[in-house]
Amino acid sequence: MTTFISGCEVVRLSSGVLTSPEYPFKKINDIKIRMIKKGVRVIDLGVGDTFLSAPEVAVEAMKKAVDDTANHHYNSYNGLPFFRETVSEWMLKRFGIKIDPENEITAVIGTKEALFRIPSAFIDSGDIALIPEPVYPALVSGLQFSGGSPYTLPLKVENRFLPDLDNIPEKIRQKAKFIYINYPNNPSTAEMTSEFAKKLLKFAEKYDWGIVSDMAYSEIYEKTPNISLLEFEGAMDRVVEFHSLSKTYSMTGFRIGFAAGNKDIISALVKIKSIRGSSPFQPVQAAAAAALKYGEDYLSKMRELYSFNRKMMKSLFSNKGLEFFHSSSTFYIWACVPEGMTSLSFSEHMLEKYGTIVTPGALLGQWGEGWFRACFARPAEELEEFVNRFGR
Ligand SMILES: Cc1ncc(COP(=O)(O)O)c(C=O)c1O
Repeated sequence: MTTFISGCEVVRLSSGVLTSPEYPFKKINDIKIRMIKKGVRVIDLGVGDTFLSAPEVAVEAMKKAVDDTANHHYNSYNGLPFFRETVSEWMLKRFGIKIDPENEITAVIGTKEALFRIPSAFIDSGDIALIPEPVYPALVSGLQFSGGSPYTLPLKVENRFLPDLDNIPEKIRQKAKFIYINYPNNPSTAEMTSEFAKKLLKFAEKYDWGIVSDMAYSEIYEKTPNISLLEFEGAMDRVVEFHSLSKTYSMTGFRIGFAAGNKDIISALVKIKSIRGSSPFQPVQAAAAAALKYGEDYLSKMRELYSFNRKMMKSLFSNKGLEFFHSSSTFYIWACVPEGMTSLSFSEHMLEKYGTIVTPGALLGQWGEGWFRACFARPAEELEEFVNRFGR
């Protein structure tokens, strides 16, 4: 297929670009812009971002590091040693796991970009990967750009949104190169259990899968900390885990996260980064290291606030007769759309009637149909306004 940029008719675009669907959240943003132009004061519970500011200690560390001209140049592809050492200390304190900062950790410029790139560590043209759905879309696009195909594992409420590994056909088990998991899960908010972690590792060992574990929301919980797959025996043989500073420390704009796990996978990722990219700006690494080292109070206050908001949203949805999935993690509510509506028609209804954006589940894959996602990491006055509009 040949398509030309309109009005130019010279440039041929790749089939990867032409056949990839538009990034789903862009569609929501376009609707938002249209509504604002119409004069509607839109409440946006669709976007996965927070209104909170980054920890002060991170901002101060960044300012100081910007003043140091030594930080104005290229840095190593796996991130600065002090950043990786801080990550290693954090992993030990948080999960009780010893990770070698030299070979088992790399800094990444946000996990979205790293998740897009990681399939090329495993995938050759024609390979398949196991992708639970609904899904955060970046990894699937990365898989397709690498010439691979997803084999979809439906995430269903009756399995508490954990993939049913027993249901994967033997042929697919044998052909799959890696499996992607994301817990706490976006969008369903589900948490991983130890039982599932052990079973997954057994399957992965038997069929020689790599495991890509996305823990972007690991620190957003009420009382019980989320577990890491790396805590389990055998995980270091095949798991790469992605952690993001974005949601945890409200640093979405800083663009920083890290990958930790199996040294061969980390080394492959660093190789890909060295060919196709680089490392986060040093002052951003300084900010992230400060947040990881001194951010415990910040996290406690954030959890308290999100718990309050979660409770308020649950109570509102219950009063409106909406069913939702019960969990204590992430800053979303994953709820069923009322009977007779699709997730898209419900979202349109919410926008037209209540001036509120929620994410239609179908934008995150066919298994998201019948559900919608509402983000409650919003300021109190905005959520109160939502309660007033929707609760009426
Ligand atoms: C499940 C999941 N993984 C990864 C990311 C990417 O986060 P970032 O690129 O900001 O680290 C997001 C962002 O919304 C997400 O929801």
